[in-house]
Amino acid sequence: MSIVKKCLFPAAGYGTRFLPATKAIPKEMLPVLTKPLLQYGVEEAIEAGLNTMAIVTGRGKRSIEDHFDISYELEHQIKGTAKESYLTEIRNVINACTFSYTRQVEMKGLGHAILTGETLIGNEPFAVVLADDLCDNKTDGVLSQMVKLYEKYKCCVVAVEEISPEDSNKYGVIAGDTIADEKYAKGSLVRVNDMVEKPDPKDAPSNLAIIGRYILTPDIFDVLRETKPGKAGEIQITDALLEMAKIGKVIAYKFDGTRFDCGSVDGFVQATNYFYEKGDK
Ligand code: G1P
Repeated sequence: MSIVKKCLFPAAGYGTRFLPATKAIPKEMLPVLTKPLLQYGVEEAIEAGLNTMAIVTGRGKRSIEDHFDISYELEHQIKGTAKESYLTEIRNVINACTFSYTRQVEMKGLGHAILTGETLIGNEPFAVVLADDLCDNKTDGVLSQMVKLYEKYKCCVVAVEEISPEDSNKYGVIAGDTIADEKYAKGSLVRVNDMVEKPDPKDAPSNLAIIGRYILTPDIFDVLRETKPGKAGEIQITDALLEMAKIGKVIAYKFDGTRFDCGSVDGFVQATNYFYEKGDK
């Protein structure tokens, strides 16, 4: 069993980029083929050895709780028919882990959402998955790769990928010094010493952007409590992590795998085509 057991899913956002679809349906429940985005994230966490899912929801998100639960009427209706197999995957998910929920009452940013989840996490290292970053791998999932790194380095880990310079204002961008580790490809591990939330291209410290996978140590909660609103007037996890980076406690990892930005319509369509071609129907 992994020493990281809990995974936090911030899922309180409005999903305005997908209106009107997200007026009554949480964006995390939008399906890529037949599976909601959030279920892909939960499956990635289970694959990484995590068994406790902590979901930060908000108003209008009740369908998330219903999804990760038994629907007796539906089970009864399709029991013994060919359609029963459609529920196999979600049943396996429900059996493999527990789910707990807390509500973010005010939307004050990703850092605030993570701090809201403290009540579900307590005093242990935990993963954070932003479900609209959908990742796929031929072998180990991204979170699984990151948990291994955590087990070795025992500090915060953020997943990064190279972006075009003009996209820097969509991401947290990091900079730092390469860590030499014979187990990892040259340049794939960086000891972070700077990070900026959504900088203009001219101010970006590098072309390495954070994607929605983090392993955090619980001392991040104390830092978040002291973090002032930053970009867009919101409490940013990037700003809190910068404080940890200043004392050498953040590693950035260029992960193996494919990632889709399902927070945008283009990325969502690419993910749908990719999984369709792959045969995950
Ligand atoms: C959030 C983070 C940002 C990160 C991104 C990854 O931004 O604030 O640092 O790069 O997720 O998807 P959001 O996309 O929620 O605006």
